[in-house]
Amino acid sequence: MALFNATRLLGKTVLVTGASSGIGAATAILFARGGANVILIARRAEALKAVSDACTTAHQESGLVQGGKFASVQLDVSDKAQVASLWDKVPQELRNVDVLVNNAGYVLGVEHVGDISDEDIQGMFATNVLGLIAMTQLLVKDFKARKSGHVINLGSIAGREPYAGGSIYTATKHAVRAFTGSMLRELVNTPIRVTEIQPGMVETEFSIVRFRGDTGAASKVYEGLQPLTAGDVAEEIVWAASRPPHVNIAEVLIFPVNQASATSNYRGGK
Ligand SMILES: NC(=O)c1ccc[n+]([C@@H]2O[C@H](COP(=O)([O-])OP(=O)(O)OC[C@H]3O[C@@H](n4cnc5c(N)ncnc54)[C@H](OP(=O)(O)O)[C@@H]3O)[C@@H](O)[C@H]2O)c1
Repeated sequence: MALFNATRLLGKTVLVTGASSGIGAATAILFARGGANVILIARRAEALKAVSDACTTAHQESGLVQGGKFASVQLDVSDKAQVASLWDKVPQELRNVDVLVNNAGYVLGVEHVGDISDEDIQGMFATNVLGLIAMTQLLVKDFKARKSGHVINLGSIAGREPYAGGSIYTATKHAVRAFTGSMLRELVNTPIRVTEIQPGMVETEFSIVRFRGDTGAASKVYEGLQPLTAGDVAEEIVWAASRPPHVNIAEVLIFPVNQASATSNYRGGK
């Protein structure tokens, strides 16, 4: 990997939520390749195990001696009690986390206001907003005590622009943007860094989840254009984490070349 200065990641410990698929999985694997240790968090244990195995392979292929310790933690970030007992599930040697990547999140449905189920509303807010805040509270307390650390939050173009059919999801990502911006300002007098990554269209399980398993509807989202891959976004995350300590990448807005906003795109190019 010539894309980032891997020496800055050697032996660092990174915690990635939502590491069982998509952007989180690609991020965990890229950090592993850069010589970091990774704590992988998600609800699906089997999928986590597969990503953890891929991390081991990536680290072995890197030939690096530093890093290479991986812990899979089955945890639902929307469950306060599970977040509170996180450290019980993490091996002692990985408890000094250097980088927190708050990536777990999802969208469900395209229903308009008035027709959205209460369960979907509660679920999206519980994971995308309250889960992210709970994880951040836990880690930033520790970062402050150790006077170092980096929080990288997955926002979205949906956190900058509302769109029809996305009222709850865009509200959650606007909340992530506000929370991240306030934290950036609060931590200005510390060495702790705060980054928000804001992707446009990325082809992952994201749209399959949105359309409740309908893969046909999910693939239509990307029809006629080349979307970002999970790996494209992972490169931005790892790049932000591997800047020199005095550099803070506050925001990264990243689109496929044929997307210009939440609703502006060109579908004749693929
Ligand atoms: N794909 C896009 O177009 C796009 C664009 C902008 C931003 N984003 C953001 O990028 C992040 C990752 O999405 P993705 O595209 O990689 O989608 P994805 O492939 O569906 O991955 C989502 C991840 O979040 C985990 N997750 C969901 N709820 C969780 C919970 N309550 N507790 C713990 N883990 C949970 C899932 O694992 P389990 O199911 O195993 O728990 C999965 O690993 C999300 O925050 C999303 O909003 C995506």
